[in-house]
Amino acid sequence: MQTNQIFEKRLSCRHDELRWLYMELYGNPSMFAELCDNMFQFYKERRRELKARDSLRETEPGWYKKNDLLGMMFYIDNFAQNLTGVEKKLDYIEQCSVNYIHLMPFLETPDGRSDGGYAVSDFRTVKKELGTMEDLERLTFACHKKGIHVCMDFVMNHTSEDHEWAKKARQGDGEYMSRYFFYDNYEIPSQYEQTVPQVFPTTAPGNFTWLDDCRHYVMTSFYPYQWDLNYKNPRVFNEMIYNFLFLANKGIDIIRLDAVPYIWKELHTNCRNLPQAHTIVRLMRIISEIVCPSVLLLGEVVMEPEKVVPYFGTVEKPECHMLYNVTTMAATWHTVATRDVRLLKRQLDILHSLPKEYIFLNYLRCHDDIGWGLDYPSLEKEGFAEIPHKQYLNDYFRGLAGNSVSRGELYNDDPVTKDARFCGATASMCGIEKAGFEQDDNAMAKAIQLDLMLHACMFMQSGIPMLYSGDEIGQVNDYSYKENPKKAGDSRYLHRGAMNWTLANRITDLNTVEGKLFHGLELLEQIRKTERVFCAEADARTVETQNNAILSIERSYGGETLIGAFNFSEDEKTACLNAPDGIYTDLISGGDKTPDCLRLMPYEFCYLKKRKLS
Ligand code: GLC
Repeated sequence: MQTNQIFEKRLSCRHDELRWLYMELYGNPSMFAELCDNMFQFYKERRRELKARDSLRETEPGWYKKNDLLGMMFYIDNFAQNLTGVEKKLDYIEQCSVNYIHLMPFLETPDGRSDGGYAVSDFRTVKKELGTMEDLERLTFACHKKGIHVCMDFVMNHTSEDHEWAKKARQGDGEYMSRYFFYDNYEIPSQYEQTVPQVFPTTAPGNFTWLDDCRHYVMTSFYPYQWDLNYKNPRVFNEMIYNFLFLANKGIDIIRLDAVPYIWKELHTNCRNLPQAHTIVRLMRIISEIVCPSVLLLGEVVMEPEKVVPYFGTVEKPECHMLYNVTTMAATWHTVATRDVRLLKRQLDILHSLPKEYIFLNYLRCHDDIGWGLDYPSLEKEGFAEIPHKQYLNDYFRGLAGNSVSRGELYNDDPVTKDARFCGATASMCGIEKAGFEQDDNAMAKAIQLDLMLHACMFMQSGIPMLYSGDEIGQVNDYSYKENPKKAGDSRYLHRGAMNWTLANRITDLNTVEGKLFHGLELLEQIRKTERVFCAEADARTVETQNNAILSIERSYGGETLIGAFNFSEDEKTACLNAPDGIYTDLISGGDKTPDCLRLMPYEFCYLKKRKLS
């Protein structure tokens, strides 16, 4: 088939729904025609090898649902200085068994007013210090040759105040003002403030910013220098789609839709998850299926499960391909602090009841804070009231309560709601920082064991595991951000430290913390990639353990069964697993174990594989 015909064919299959949804939002046929023309242009400009990738993926649309993807996220400068540096580190990435890298925001952003790169001033230029668009293309090409997929952020809710649209709006150009939310008095902003919660209550209170030079308020849900885009304006939608397609054409495989629940605003609502936000995601899915079908959409929806799951759309009308498993992440740390697995078990039971088409990205830590968005109605029945419990968790992880070995800091401590979130690197939260500082070998062994157990538990869950760069060698909190005036006000920089390559060189030495963690993770990765029970189609369920400190997950597929058991306590515990009869081998220790009376050492875990009858 001629390539133009391929485009025509894809468009004609989806044209009616695309047009219908677009008209529903914008009722503007000429802007729709412009969109289709530009989609064709981007299709034509797409490199031949990317088109080949598209065709391949179209024949196997579920390619990302196997058990062979392992992700790692990093800031380019922290990891390898610049894009070319990342290219040079691809061997290390392969050594980590990682085949999916999330390059944290790297587009042009004003220094000191960047929100970690999430305030983009030019969607088509790479930040100078990090390289050029050509470097990006070269990197994605090199990654593809090694079978590594590349993910980037598409920060679509807002632009930086330094973006050319913002600059023109600031000068009073009505066309550009209409791309944002501008008000010459506080009446409408004050109405919004009554119903819209705050994202950064301490570091950036309120949802509007007064611009003294142009005598207007502008909507800024995040920092004052991040101006919310007005997606009611079809020009905004079209132009942002062109940016999206431009970036997809640089060889990006996975596009993370940053802060997607916030993109549509309506007065008298909380401006979160409105139906139009879903329409926009559906439109993006259709558009990428027409122009660049190998590209996956990853939605960043940091909310409770009922709000997250709708971003998958339906089987007939899908939206995102993948979503973050944020509640499980928070519930995991709750379990660490309480040694009580009941909440995590309930959370996993909910996930196990969802369609297997839904692919979650599992993680222990990311670049953001941990918000304690837990299921409080059910926790209250177990004696954990919301506000005191959040306070306990924040105290615990700062090392101030409950026999804790964790280290970290608060984030956006809200004096009104008494809510605070938490920052800290995985290793520090597991006690590696404290044990290292105190040179306590026993404590270090326990901390490493906890760290590995949490990873093992995450790897056992359905979905794609995502590591935060540095976690594979147990990198701890980095307090140096406090000395940098551009970072000091944002404690999330605590867990965004630069990769320590001197420590990384120790991975071959099994007597070091780095070596122990790296090889522990390597074993988990090998098991996950080779055992078929880790595929998305496998049946997964939690197993009764008769012990609140021990969580157990069973996965079965094609007649094979694997049972994971995880001791969240620093004491030895025994579980009586309600598992099918048989002889089980522990893939971690290599020994045989009996699930109906399973003794686990402090923070020990096992992956029990049922032996086949010979
Ligand atoms: C996302 C990012 C976060 C950023 C926010 C605003 O939530 O993960 O780091 O502050 O978007 O763009």
